[in-house]
Amino acid sequence: MRYTHKRPSVLALETSCDESAVAVIRLESGKIRVMASVVASQIEEHSKWGGVVPEIASRRHVEALPFLIEQAVTESGMLIENVDAIAATVAPGLAGSLMVGSVTARTLASLHSLPFLGVHHLEGHLASVRLGNAPPAPPYLVLLVSGGHTELIRVSSYWEIECLGRSHDDAVGEAFDKVARLLGLSYPGGPAIEKVAEGGDFARFALPKGRISIPGGGFHPYHFSFSGLKTAMLRKVEAIKDSGKNVPVNDLAASFEHVVAEVLVERSLKCAKDHDLSRLVMVGGVAANNRLRTYMAKRGSEQNIQVFCAPKAFCTDNAAMIGAAAITRLELGNASSSFELGVSPRWPLEDSSKLYCSNPPF
Ligand code: KG4
Ligand code: ZN
Repeated sequence: MRYTHKRPSVLALETSCDESAVAVIRLESGKIRVMASVVASQIEEHSKWGGVVPEIASRRHVEALPFLIEQAVTESGMLIENVDAIAATVAPGLAGSLMVGSVTARTLASLHSLPFLGVHHLEGHLASVRLGNAPPAPPYLVLLVSGGHTELIRVSSYWEIECLGRSHDDAVGEAFDKVARLLGLSYPGGPAIEKVAEGGDFARFALPKGRISIPGGGFHPYHFSFSGLKTAMLRKVEAIKDSGKNVPVNDLAASFEHVVAEVLVERSLKCAKDHDLSRLVMVGGVAANNRLRTYMAKRGSEQNIQVFCAPKAFCTDNAAMIGAAAITRLELGNASSSFELGVSPRWPLEDSSKLYCSNPPF
C-alpha cells in the first residue's frame, strides 16, 4: 500500500450496534491524534421498544453515515483522498448494522483507491487506550468491560493476546442495564446508576461477589459472575416493597456500583500480579465509571501496578478507537483486508488477525 510518509491517517466507521460513528485520526510521532470524532446515538429511538431493534438500527445507520462522514472529514481539515486507509468494524455485532458500515467503507476505499481495513470491535476497545495522553506499551493486562463483554486479556505485544478471565453469565454493562431497569432508571443503565449512586450510602447493603467454582473445589481467581448479584438486588427491592417502605434507590445503586467495582478491581489486580504484569489498562463503556476508575487507581498504586484508562469519551462506542486499531495494524506492517471480507455477528478476538488475510474468513 501507499503508506510511505510519517503521519498516516485513517477514516474509520463504527456501526456495530446502536451508535453510528465516524472519526478521522492520524499518527504523529507514535502518538494517535483524533482529528475528528462524531457519534450519533439511536438510544432514544430504541428505548421506545425496550431494546435495540436490528432492522431500525440498520436503517438509521444508512441515514446517518453520509452526514457523519461529511462532518468528520470537514472537522478534520483533511480530504478523503488524502487519508491512507478506510476502516470499518466488521465483527462482532448486528449483521445488518455491520454491513452498512462495511459496505460504505469498501465503497469509499474503492472510489479513492485506498486500502480497506475490517476491524474487530473489541480490538477497537483495546486500542482506545492509545487515544489517551501517555498510553502504555505492551506487555499489560486489559480489563475490558462493556455491554457485551467482561474480560481480562493479556496483551503481550501487538498483536499477541490471551484471555485470562471472563464473565460466565451477564457482562458487567448488561448487569448495570438490568439493575437500572429494576430501580426504575433509564437506559443505558451505567450512567443512570452512577448519577443516583453519587448521593447514596455504598455500605448500606451487603451484596454478593459472584464466583465461579472450579472442579476439585475452590473458585476461579479471575473469572466473574454477575447474575447472582442481579438476583440479590431483585430480592432486596422486593423485600423493601413488601414491607411497604420506599425503595432507597440511591443507597441500592451505590451499594451495587461499589460491589461491582470491588470485584473488578480485586480480580484484575490479582490476575496482573500472578502474571507479573505491572501495567493494567481499563477500556469499554463501564470503564467510564468514576467509582471504578478511582478504586482501580488507588488499589493499583498500593500494589505497585500502574493503571491506565481510556479517555472517558472513548470508553463507550466510537469510531476513533476503530481508527486506532487500524493504525496499530498499519504500524505492524501495512495490513489491509480483502474487499471480499464480509461481516460476522460473532468472531473471537483471538482470531482478529485473520481479518487481514488475503483469504477472508467470512
Ligand atoms: O462499550 P460500550 O459502549 O458498548 C459495547 O460494546 O457494549 O458499553 C456500553 C455499556 C452499557 O451497558 C452501559 O450501561 C455501560 O457501558 N456504561 C457504564 C457507564 N457508561 C456506560 N457503566 C457504568 N458506568 C458508566 N459511567
Ligand atoms: Zn463496544
